[in-house]
Amino acid sequence: MRTQLDTLVTGALQQGSAVPAFTCYDFTTALAVVGAAEESGRGAILLVAPKTAATPNGLRLIAALRGLADAASVPIAVQLDHATDPQVIADVVSAGADSVLVDGSSLPYEDNIALVRNVRAALAAQGRADVVIEAELGGLAGDEDRAFATDAADNAGDAAGNVESDAPAGLTDSAQVEDFVARTGAQLLAVAVGNVHGKYKGEPRLRWDVLQDIAVRTRIPLVLHGASGIPAEELVKAAAMNVGKVNFNTELRTGVLAVLEEQTTAHRADGENLQALLGLWNASARTFAATALATLSR
Ligand code: 13P
Repeated sequence: MRTQLDTLVTGALQQGSAVPAFTCYDFTTALAVVGAAEESGRGAILLVAPKTAATPNGLRLIAALRGLADAASVPIAVQLDHATDPQVIADVVSAGADSVLVDGSSLPYEDNIALVRNVRAALAAQGRADVVIEAELGGLAGDEDRAFATDAADNAGDAAGNVESDAPAGLTDSAQVEDFVARTGAQLLAVAVGNVHGKYKGEPRLRWDVLQDIAVRTRIPLVLHGASGIPAEELVKAAAMNVGKVNFNTELRTGVLAVLEEQTTAHRADGENLQALLGLWNASARTFAATALATLSR
């Protein structure tokens, strides 16, 4: 059943768990995530990347994901990830998403707050004051759709050094948290605590001390982006720090791409057997989602 993101996450935290969120560029992956969630009896979140959402096909994908969430036997939320463009947000909400990460983290502090407030006001004017808003405080290094080795202190968007954001990546300033949450009215807060999008350069070094400091300053659930590459022994600690949502993308596609690379030749030889190849795609994504669901509810 489709559910409100904040209800799903708050309910999980009350049980001592966090909810995994998975980027879905396509319907096969989304089917796999929902299948794994149903098998585990737990809820999950389907994330739509902003570059996907900014296309007519992306809006149709969102409508399809909404239908999938409605039909699921466990709670499923559909969220637009890392949004900055008010028009894309309006379109995505009309297409069927009922939560949005309004990401002003690359903007100066006051502009970040203003972006979230403006989106909230625009959604209310659209008759959609019910849309759940996650906001982000602190710059996360790395590219959301293409994974290159990144250090939390890097501001390099990709391997070629193309910088996508002009703000330095940095830790969330815990001293800003209370003010930011109060003024934005955000229902969830994404934080930068040494996490990066994509691949970690070396071992991830999460700053649990900073996370702890943030957690005591707000009651709203925290969100950990860039979970690919963070060992399970670390992720299990998340819920105890009020991290109720954990985002995965890179590792999911690493698994799918490896299967496609390994299996395409044989499936071409087998009568251009795309149907069976999609079955393997589904199995890879489903196994990954099942592992994340199990880890976050340990
Ligand atoms: P990874 O690609 O590092 O798993 O990050 C996913 C994410 O945070 C999506 O918002």
